Amino acid sequence: MRVLLFGSGGREHAFCLAFAKSNKVSAIYIAPGNAGTASTGTNVDLNPDDFEEVVEFILSKKIDLVVIGPEIPLVNGLANRLLSSSRLKGLKVLGPNREGAQLEGSKVFAKKFMKRYEIPTAKYLEVTRDNLNQGNQYLQNNKGPYVLKADGLAAGKGVLIIDDREQAGTELGNMLDGKFGEASRKVVIEEFLTGTEFSVFVLTDGDHWVLLPEAKDYKRAKEGDQGLNTGGMGAVSPVPFFGGEFKKKVIQQVVEPTLDGLKKEGINYCGFIFFGLINVNGSPYVIEYNCRMGDPETQVVFPRIESDMAELILDATEGRLKGKEIKISNQSAATVIATSEGYPEKYEKGKSISGLDSIKNALVFHAGTRQNNNSIVTNGGRVLAITCLGEELQIAVSSCYKNMNELCFEGITYRKDIGSDLIN
Ligand code: AMP
Ligand code: GLY
Repeated sequence: MRVLLFGSGGREHAFCLAFAKSNKVSAIYIAPGNAGTASTGTNVDLNPDDFEEVVEFILSKKIDLVVIGPEIPLVNGLANRLLSSSRLKGLKVLGPNREGAQLEGSKVFAKKFMKRYEIPTAKYLEVTRDNLNQGNQYLQNNKGPYVLKADGLAAGKGVLIIDDREQAGTELGNMLDGKFGEASRKVVIEEFLTGTEFSVFVLTDGDHWVLLPEAKDYKRAKEGDQGLNTGGMGAVSPVPFFGGEFKKKVIQQVVEPTLDGLKKEGINYCGFIFFGLINVNGSPYVIEYNCRMGDPETQVVFPRIESDMAELILDATEGRLKGKEIKISNQSAATVIATSEGYPEKYEKGKSISGLDSIKNALVFHAGTRQNNNSIVTNGGRVLAITCLGEELQIAVSSCYKNMNELCFEGITYRKDIGSDLIN
């Protein structure tokens, strides 16, 4: 099978390595990819918005399967266009259609969906300019912290958590005035939940699903969960409290009703669902849905999967997941992200990366990297991820940090406490 993969992050490099391991896959193209994916497959300069160009490429390279990594092309309906093109009959596509991607693309859609299917989530109010009074009233009547969420996609920046009531009122007005562009013309105000966050992933063909390893990511830029929110500074898998009765609750109260709900809505969802959850005193609540795999969660989830991921993905696109088993390693995995100094705010690019050859017993997933003549240089905020496996989480984590010491580029910055809250 010949695969075209959209995306350019560490997540896509992890997909590439999983495909490269499979004897089902004979060619991998990545659009646009990074310096890491270039050594596993062929990077191509394809813009998902230029649909004619995408169709020509798929035909000329005889692509059998398209995998869409990031949320933006999914929310924009790339899967719908690929599947309805009369020139691409028989093409397999992994990634939900526009309707399914609304789980991530619209917080209002997701909240209403959860309410309809009685899926546990924080109480909320939808606010636009038309009911701003009601929004302000909600702030008056409730204690902080206040959680304000832009309805649409805002590059991971659309959630504000504010302690002060007056400031929350000001920010609510700013959001409705377009602080996050069109994405925040509608805002969800949510009850603040206290607990431990973790993430659960399923791969579904629309009827059946398999549960992938769960993970916990570390979103804040600085140690001790301080600093700005980022795309993720590291992740670990498994999550110690995800098992037994609690796991059963997640499946019965969240996963099954979500998949049943999608079917009832007439949404034929083929792809990954990423459940961003919080454990509130032993009860799971949904913080958010994503219509794709996580980054950097994929960098700990995929290395723990012993089954052929390419085969499972193909099965999903062909509606054949019924009865499929997924084999998961008992080992723990940790990933630590090396970022450019200044990320998630301003940072420089083009710094030469050295030490990659000294990394041992680890997987290196490239994200913001680029080949420049004979060297690899930084090309983004999150530069690369080092993943290690171990019998215990502590072993995996300490191997990550040992390898991180080998890696060098000007301004290299990483969190030193990934997984430490889960290690006794
Ligand atoms: P989201 O983009 O919805 O995942 O929100 C980003 C982050 O904000 C989450 O990972 C949580 O840390 C935090 N967050 C979102 N909603 C809530 C909530 N209702 N209560 C507490 N924290 C929240
Ligand atoms: N690491 C969070 C995400 O992929 O959305």
